[in-house]
Amino acid sequence: MDVEPEKFNPEDIRIEIMNQNYDVSGFNSYEKELVDFLREDALENQEQRLSVTFLWYYKDHLVSYVTVLNDKINLEGDLKEFFREKGIHYKSLPALKIGRLCVDDRYLRRGLGRLMILSVINVADGINKNKAGCRFITLDAKRNSDKKRDSIHFYKKMGFGTLKERMKGTTPMYLDLKLIEEN
Ligand SMILES: CC(C)(COP(=O)(O)OP(=O)(O)OC[C@H]1O[C@@H](n2cnc3c(N)ncnc32)[C@H](O)[C@@H]1OP(=O)(O)O)[C@@H](O)C(=O)NCCC(=O)NCCS
Repeated sequence: MDVEPEKFNPEDIRIEIMNQNYDVSGFNSYEKELVDFLREDALENQEQRLSVTFLWYYKDHLVSYVTVLNDKINLEGDLKEFFREKGIHYKSLPALKIGRLCVDDRYLRRGLGRLMILSVINVADGINKNKAGCRFITLDAKRNSDKKRDSIHFYKKMGFGTLKERMKGTTPMYLDLKLIEEN
């Protein structure tokens, strides 16, 4: 009989903003592009003010990371109609984008992905409170022909909708923060 892997206790997790003192060389994922980004580009992008990367540690092990940046959604189709009905006629609306999000292979399916999504919602809520408007969380979900590795299913479970369904590459997705607030 399979034993359910133990979930992470949020109290045992430490979150650090990346800087040159952190060693990320041991991080590993089946999504090699996300490993390369962390090792080669994340810090430089942060220094260039293109994104901020949060490193997640559990008992001093680097278990996952998430990279965020500012974004906007161009309103088209059903989404445009939805806002028109509310009297909102802008062409685009502000968003916070999850540029990269990855859990190390050794720690998958233990609740870290969900906790990282909640942490980004928390960042957006903080921005909305007294800094700037932010209506959505956006991301481009990586598609994988192996269903267990196809991140679109994970994001749908987290409440994200698709902007444009694409079977290969990435699928743009969004979460409406106002709808979450109301539910
Ligand atoms: C996608 C990813 C972040 C999910 O992280 P995780 O820590 O394994 O996910 P969680 O344990 O928090 O799962 C939350 C829920 O989503 C489900 N889930 C996770 N991955 C899933 C998948 N590929 N397909 C379907 N459901 C999935 C879990 O079963 C869980 O459901 P439950 O609440 O009913 O138990 C992780 O698989 C990953 O890092 N993959 C490699 C990189 C990647 O694809 N990142 C996304 C790029 S945009």
